[in-house]
Amino acid sequence: MRRFIGLMSGTSIDAVDGALLEFGGQQPDTLRTSAFASRPIPDNLRHELEALQSPGADELRRAALAANALADVYAEVVADLLTQAGCAAASVTAIGAHGQTVRHRPELGYTIQLLQPARLAEACGIAVVCDLRAADIAAGGQGAPLAPAFHAEAFRDAAERRAVVNLGGVANISVLPPLASPEPVTGYDTGPANTLLDAWCRRHTGADFDRDGDWARGGTVDAALLASWLAEPYFALAPPKSTGRDLFNAGWLDRTLAAGEKRDPRDVQATLVELTALTVGRACRESGAGRVFVCGGGARNRFLMERLAASAAPAKVSTTQALGVDPQAVEAAAFAWLAARRIDGNAGNLASVTGARGPRVLGLLAEPRPRN
Ligand SMILES: Nc1ncnc2c1ncn2[C@@H]1O[C@H](COP(=O)(O)OP(=O)(O)OP(=O)(O)O)[C@@H](O)[C@H]1O
Ligand SMILES: [Mg+2]
Repeated sequence: MRRFIGLMSGTSIDAVDGALLEFGGQQPDTLRTSAFASRPIPDNLRHELEALQSPGADELRRAALAANALADVYAEVVADLLTQAGCAAASVTAIGAHGQTVRHRPELGYTIQLLQPARLAEACGIAVVCDLRAADIAAGGQGAPLAPAFHAEAFRDAAERRAVVNLGGVANISVLPPLASPEPVTGYDTGPANTLLDAWCRRHTGADFDRDGDWARGGTVDAALLASWLAEPYFALAPPKSTGRDLFNAGWLDRTLAAGEKRDPRDVQATLVELTALTVGRACRESGAGRVFVCGGGARNRFLMERLAASAAPAKVSTTQALGVDPQAVEAAAFAWLAARRIDGNAGNLASVTGARGPRVLGLLAEPRPRN
């Protein structure tokens, strides 16, 4: 049995999520999530990571310090996982660590995830696989989304056509044809999910996020505003495509709201929920999947889940819990799986998703001590 840890801090910049995966044998279906842990990103670090999303003074020094600080939070999550699972660091083969995306411009040939991997390896005494998106971009791909390959491994069915939707800061879909089908697995980022919901909610209520979607539920969808948002060119782009805070940020909201009259903030929140529900729901319908399994923090947003269920019909919407996997753990587990792919020399990307020229081994390795 081998153990791998996956660590994820996504576009919401809310927390570092970690999952410990056990690989029972040679068969991928013996893969098991044996622990899950999450630590909030401290406010000062979150503000700095948010600030680093756009150009600013003294960026290089600030980015280096933020990368160190984030490695320290990652190390705390690793310690939590080891305690929870009751196992020693030496029993873990490697950590797959995503880092914090501060730029994502595949069309310009780069993506930047902040994290100091050597510091994390040193703190944990475990090898760290990082920078998991660069090789795919170097091969002409989007470098994102990477989760569909793992979704296919964990959730593909013999007979049923399925879709998996991650409602993180950004939403992404994986379309999983039945195992016997010659059709490739596909997937792409559909557009915004929690980043815009969180930004608007924080600005108007002071709360970090709209718990269960209750605040939005009291609002009314503004049809004209929704139509103007749906005209955003990203939504009409054909896959492969990926996006993030480079496009969907507070500035995007402000620009699109500037022209309008004064609006009730609750109505804007309700309209943002509808924007996510419609864009994700359309992707679900187009996928032809009979069932859609949702993961990520947005799975807890009851109002968003209701609106998505309405929009995705006739596809039936539930969470990955229905398949026995905690929706909060899926994305972190994907990075544990990607670490295993890297250590074993296997491809981590799906060219049919990212548009890369072919399968690539993803990630760079930081090792805590000599092997010989
Ligand atoms: N009870 C809840 N009600 C509503 N929203 C919630 C709830 N719990 C979590 N969330 C939302 O989920 C977000 C975090 O989701 P998640 O960690 O999956 O996103 P992420 O870190 O951006 O990851 P990704 O890389 O997949 O985009 C929070 O910022 C919040 O908006
Ligand atoms: Mg998160």
